[in-house]
Amino acid sequence: MDITFNNISYSILDGENKRMILNQITYCFKSPGLFIIVGASGSGKTTILHLLCRMLKPEKGVVELTQQNQVFNLDKFFNFGKSFAFVYQKKLLLGFLNVRDNLSLAYELAGYSPFLALKKSREVLKKNNLFHLFSRKITTLSGGEKARISLLRSIALERPVLLADEPTGELDLVNAQLICHQLYSLAKEKLVIVVTHNQDLFSIYDNATFLLLNEQKLWPINRYGVKS
Ligand SMILES: Nc1ncnc2c1ncn2[C@@H]1O[C@H](COP(=O)(O)OP(=O)(O)OP(=O)(O)O)[C@@H](O)[C@H]1O
Ligand SMILES: [Mg+2]
Repeated sequence: MDITFNNISYSILDGENKRMILNQITYCFKSPGLFIIVGASGSGKTTILHLLCRMLKPEKGVVELTQQNQVFNLDKFFNFGKSFAFVYQKKLLLGFLNVRDNLSLAYELAGYSPFLALKKSREVLKKNNLFHLFSRKITTLSGGEKARISLLRSIALERPVLLADEPTGELDLVNAQLICHQLYSLAKEKLVIVVTHNQDLFSIYDNATFLLLNEQKLWPINRYGVKS
């Protein structure tokens, strides 16, 4: 599933004044692939992710979705609810449930029976060396553990597009690298779009596409941050 920004503009109201954040951006995010968006704080990166999954509507232009050679307007796409998973900057887990239930619920949402959902939750935790957290309450997890479980939960939804807003923010290097590697692996099969302030973490991945949001436009850059 590819997503295309077709001449997208977006403004916000800053007090009395209208301020343009994105100005006529045209860009195709091709699937499968890993796209890394960087840019100054306040430049509009989160806004881009929200436009990509219909949380915001563009002021001008259209977001299009291509699936099996058919082009859909994102606004009217029939299978919207089953297309996107989002990794929020503030890790969104159900705090009153434990890790097992957080993951199982996501697998159930993806269509698995409760029995299989539980089995898959066990397997995914084992595979990621996190099985010791199986019965732990979310409130007892460290920041790094929360971030990793939160990512596993988004992946468990098995959606074709994963949008991640600063998934490595506030993490130590080891946890951050684990998350980057998971996103990289996932992007071999899906469309993964990541907003980050830690471009360096992704620069080891040859196939990643780097984009800089600057002066209301998206610019292709190389892995060292230089416009190409
Ligand atoms: N609902 C809103 N009303 C007014 N201003 C808004 C609104 N939403 C976002 N903005 C402003 O739009 C600009 C872009 O916001 P956005 O969250 O996309 O930035 P960002 O690039 O993700 O920043 P950061 O790196 O700090 O997360 C910011 O100046 C923000 O204050
Ligand atoms: Mg942001």
